[in-house]
Amino acid sequence: MTQLTFPEGFLWGTATASYQIEGAADEDGRGPSIWDTFSQTPGKTWRGQTGRVACDHYHRTEEDVALMASLGLDTYRFSVAWPRIQPDGTGPVNPAGIDYYDRLVDLLVEAGIKPMPTLYHWDLPQSFEDRGGWPERETAERFGDYAAIVADRLADRVHTWWTLNEPWCSAFLGYGDGHHAPGRTEPVAALKAAHHLNLAHGLATQALRAAGAERVSIALNPTQPRGDEEAVRIVDTLANRVFFDPILKGEYPAELFERTAVHTDWSFVQDGDLEQINQRIDLLGVNYYNPAWFRYNPDAPESQVQPGSAGVEGYRPEELPVTDMGWPIEPTGLTDLLVRIHKDYGVPTMVTENGAAYPTGPGEDGEVDDVERVDYLRSHIAAVHDAIEEGADVRGYTAWSLMDNFEWAFGYDKRFGIVHVDYATQKRTLKSSAKFYAKVIADHGVER
Ligand code: FCB
Repeated sequence: MTQLTFPEGFLWGTATASYQIEGAADEDGRGPSIWDTFSQTPGKTWRGQTGRVACDHYHRTEEDVALMASLGLDTYRFSVAWPRIQPDGTGPVNPAGIDYYDRLVDLLVEAGIKPMPTLYHWDLPQSFEDRGGWPERETAERFGDYAAIVADRLADRVHTWWTLNEPWCSAFLGYGDGHHAPGRTEPVAALKAAHHLNLAHGLATQALRAAGAERVSIALNPTQPRGDEEAVRIVDTLANRVFFDPILKGEYPAELFERTAVHTDWSFVQDGDLEQINQRIDLLGVNYYNPAWFRYNPDAPESQVQPGSAGVEGYRPEELPVTDMGWPIEPTGLTDLLVRIHKDYGVPTMVTENGAAYPTGPGEDGEVDDVERVDYLRSHIAAVHDAIEEGADVRGYTAWSLMDNFEWAFGYDKRFGIVHVDYATQKRTLKSSAKFYAKVIADHGVER
C-alpha cells in the first residue's frame, strides 16, 4: 500500500441538496417547487415517494452540522431552496427562508466548516413552471435577482458559490426524457432550457460578484464518453460542450447547431447572451459517478434524452462491476475527465460530487459496514490524485452524500450516504465509509 498525499489547501467536503434532505416542505412560508408537484404525480417516483419529510434536516440542522464536524470536514456543499427565499419565485423575500440559511451558514462557520451553497439544485418554484419553466427566458432573468438576494445576506461568510447543479439534468432529464421534474418530453424545450440555464448561470455570476462573492462556480456533470471517435465527439458536443463552451469560451460549437437543426434554429439565443454567459469563474465543479459508452451507428434513432443524437447508441461493457444504481464502476473515468478539462479549458476544478449507492443497513451489532462504498471512495479519491499527478489543478473532493436521502425519481430506495438514515426514527449512524472518509481527511490522503 502506498500513501497518496494531497496538495496543501486541498479541501475535503460532503454534499447534499435542499429537496433531498430538508423536509419541512410547507413550513415557514416555503412555496411549492416542481419537485413537490412531480413527486406527487402518480407514477413519477418510486412508490410515489416525495421529499416532504426526507431527512427532516430542516429541524435537525444543529445535530447534522455537529455530525459533519465530527468527520473533520473542511467544506459542506448544500443547496438553497429558491421556494424558501421567494415562495412564488419573484417578489419579496420570505424572511424565515433566508434566516434559515443564514443560521446554517453561521453554524458551519462556528464548526470550522467552509460553507459552499448551490443556488439551484432542481427545486424550481412551481410558479415559473406554470409560466413555462426553464424554456422561458424570464426564469433565467429572475434567477439573477434571486442570486442577488441570497448573496446580499450570505456572501460575507461563503467560501465558494455554485450557481447551478447539473444543468444537463435540469434541461435533458426535466424537458427531454421527462425522468425528472417537470417531466416534459419536448426536444425544443430541452434545448431552450439548456440555453436559459447557461444564461441564468451568467446572470447569477454577475449578481454574486456585485454582492462581493469571493469564489463563483457551477457544478456540471460532464459525461465521460468512451467508445469510437465519432460517437464520442458527438456526445461530447451535445452533452458537455453545450455547457463548457458558452461558459468557458463564450460560444456554442457549430456542430451543436448542425445536429439539432431538425428541431430548432436556436433563434432564442439573443445578441449579447454569450457575453452574459461567459463570465470569469474561479473553478469548475465536476460531478462524476461513471463513464458512459457509445458507438456510431447511422441507423440509431435519436435518444429522447439528448436531442441531436441520431446515429449514436449507448452500450454497456459487460465485465464492469456496478453499484446499486446499475452504474458501472470505473475510477479512471474521473482521472480522464479532470485531465481533459485541464487541457482543453485550463480551468481549476473541484470534484463537487462523487459516490455510490449501496443498500447496506445496520447489522445485528448496529454497525453499517458498507465495504463496497469504502472501496468506491478509495479508488475514486486515488483517481483524483492521479489527475493531479498528470497536471490537473484540482482544488478539492466532495463526497455525495453526507447522508442517505431522497434520490429523486428513485425515492428512498437508493442510499448514497456515508451516514445511514433510519427514515422511521431519523436516527443517523456513521457507516464504515464515514469513518474511512474521516481518516482520509485526517491523513490528508488515501492509501492505495
Ligand atoms: C446527481 C445529483 C444528486 C444526486 C446524485 C446521485 O446527479 O446532483 O442530487 O442525486 O446524482
